[in-house]
Amino acid sequence: MQNVLITGGAGFIGSNFVRYLLKAEPRVQVINLDALTYAGSLENLKDLPDAERHTFVKGDITDADFIGDLLRKYSIDTIIHFAAESHVDRSILGPGQFMHTNIIGTYTLLESARKYWLAEKGFDKEQVRFHHISTDEVFGTLAPGEPAWTEESPYAPNSPYAASKASSDHLVRSYGHTYGLPYTLTNCSNNYGPYQFPEKLIPLIIQNAMDEKPLPVYGDGQQVRDWLHVEDHCAAIHLVVGKAANGATYNIGGGNQPANLTIVETICDILDERKPRAGGKSHRELIQFVKDRPGHDRRYAMNAEKLHRELGWSPRYDLNQGLLDTVEWYMSHPEWTAAIRKQLDYQSWMDKNYGKR
Ligand code: NAD
Ligand code: DAU
Repeated sequence: MQNVLITGGAGFIGSNFVRYLLKAEPRVQVINLDALTYAGSLENLKDLPDAERHTFVKGDITDADFIGDLLRKYSIDTIIHFAAESHVDRSILGPGQFMHTNIIGTYTLLESARKYWLAEKGFDKEQVRFHHISTDEVFGTLAPGEPAWTEESPYAPNSPYAASKASSDHLVRSYGHTYGLPYTLTNCSNNYGPYQFPEKLIPLIIQNAMDEKPLPVYGDGQQVRDWLHVEDHCAAIHLVVGKAANGATYNIGGGNQPANLTIVETICDILDERKPRAGGKSHRELIQFVKDRPGHDRRYAMNAEKLHRELGWSPRYDLNQGLLDTVEWYMSHPEWTAAIRKQLDYQSWMDKNYGKR
């Protein structure tokens, strides 16, 4: 790992990973490629450690000529691919962009890597690596009591987002199998932490609660996600890219499985202490049950035993401490929130998704 291309490095997990990698690998050069869609922002890349080893390039992963030139220009030997359309609700209201970015974008990166690494340079499998970041949502949904997903669980994606990510996973495997492109792949559960765009449950609830706005809970709020702090995800990716065998896939999860309503109530309780409302009212009074997400997956749970056994990974964050730290991060970064919310798209998205619920 010398010249690392990170795609989507101005988004939530990508920007956390850029920070993580610059600290963990003192000799790597990081080339950060991001199209700066509504979800990406240079605000996420301020105050990077060792910033002289980070180069930001604005560009689109679906542009084949541009990607080919970029790989050559920076002699890229490792690609860590985060860039995607990532929000399930947006995929329901507008699936086309998800197919283009997540499927065609991944195909374009794979094909560019194949041409440059294998056809032009003739690198062998020890010299290069394509790491694909994917999601637990490719496995569908679990009934109560069903065992957590392993790497052998069958794919059964339910939303357009999940289907587009499943397609991208299959493309990565096919490039490994057919052309011998060296790759690894991780499927991770729901992340939370600093720099998450406030359209996803946890940052949306924190922001709305701080502003004393309604807290929208879909359906009965008893859906279950497997929450993982973003730094634990970054540590897992770093281990896999550095240590895993070519062609290996790993599930990553936090083992934290409270229902959505419990997550929302916990955030309210933290804010009741840290930022009390006038008149002693609880933030819980702001909770509103709203119309459910169509096709809403009921439960996710990941079995991360393989990653623990083979590479020694375990999550470091306890969920309660992680939520407390995250609330405190949002409370202490009002300038970040203000800049992100100024983007034209934010309010129109809120109106579109919540206006008629
Ligand atoms: P995000 O939406 O915060 O960031 C995505 C980034 O990709 C943005 O910076 C955006 O500008 C960039 N991007 C989008 N289209 C692009 C294009 N065509 N070319 C270049 N850049 C483009 O997403 P995230 O939550 O940080 O997720 C990152 C990855 O991790 C995604 O692949 C997602 O599927 C996966 N994932 C996310 C979670 C989660 O809980 N957030 C969990 C598991 C896996
Ligand atoms: O599981 C991994 C996935 O987690 C990632 O692949 C996706 O990129 C990421 O967006 C996330 O998907 P979810 O749909 O699980 O995340 P979201 O934060 O949108 O929703 C979490 C849960 O909260 C889900 O059950 C829907 C519910 N929800 C969400 C919003 C935005 C609400 O009840 N109200 C809301 O306003």
